[in-house]
Amino acid sequence: MRTKIVAGNWKMNKTSAEAKALTSEVISLHGAEVKSPTKVILCVPFPFLQQSKEQTANTPVAVGAQNCSEHESGAYTGEVSAAMLKSLGIPYVILGHSERRQYFQESGAQLARKVDRALAHQLIPIFCCGEPLEIREQGTHEALVRKQVAEGLFHLAPEAISGIIIAYEPVWAIGTGKTATTQQAQDMHAVIRKELAGKYGNVVSEKIPILYGGSVKPDNARELFSCPDVDGGLVGGASLKARDFVDIIKGA
Ligand code: 13P
Repeated sequence: MRTKIVAGNWKMNKTSAEAKALTSEVISLHGAEVKSPTKVILCVPFPFLQQSKEQTANTPVAVGAQNCSEHESGAYTGEVSAAMLKSLGIPYVILGHSERRQYFQESGAQLARKVDRALAHQLIPIFCCGEPLEIREQGTHEALVRKQVAEGLFHLAPEAISGIIIAYEPVWAIGTGKTATTQQAQDMHAVIRKELAGKYGNVVSEKIPILYGGSVKPDNARELFSCPDVDGGLVGGASLKARDFVDIIKGA
């Protein structure tokens, strides 16, 4: 049995004061209402990591970053390293989000290096994959997602890949209000798990959590999370409201 995981991706939103208020509201609603062992992660912008980390100390809520550099350290102005995140006590980092792939041209080879940097510093990558609309319409979505997973992760040893989290986020469902149907989500998650099993065997593939992302809301979370291969969600817009985010956690 895989433990369910619900991660919020705040993207580039909130000021410091707003981030503080949202973190504390999530902690208090979660503490009052959630009894399940679902893992909860807030992936906040870099400037708020330390603050959210301090606020969530001694609570079941964890904090993650949204990206890290593929370089260890050095002259890379504006970049944030895995070592820096580790030094703040941050356990999770989103890598390969479609917005990074699309707007910052992050390639499969680069993401493989980011995964290596993260793992070298004992960070748990939340590795994203997912197809744009035109690929879905062409019917080549499964091939693309299999390629993304292989490029980013298949250089890893079985022990290393066993420790990561995958998030399937169809680009056409991100921020559009258009959610994948439970069938579409389950089908792709099963494809990813089969691909993992083909490379690493069933024992490893059954361990790896695969989250769904793309317009997850309180009213669709329960149904999506009930699919056998959907182990929770990576939530964008709805994670910016504590009430909605905690209702989504309750759906897991
Ligand atoms: P939305 O939940 O806003 O569609 O965003 C999903 C996402 O990109 C999470 O990483």
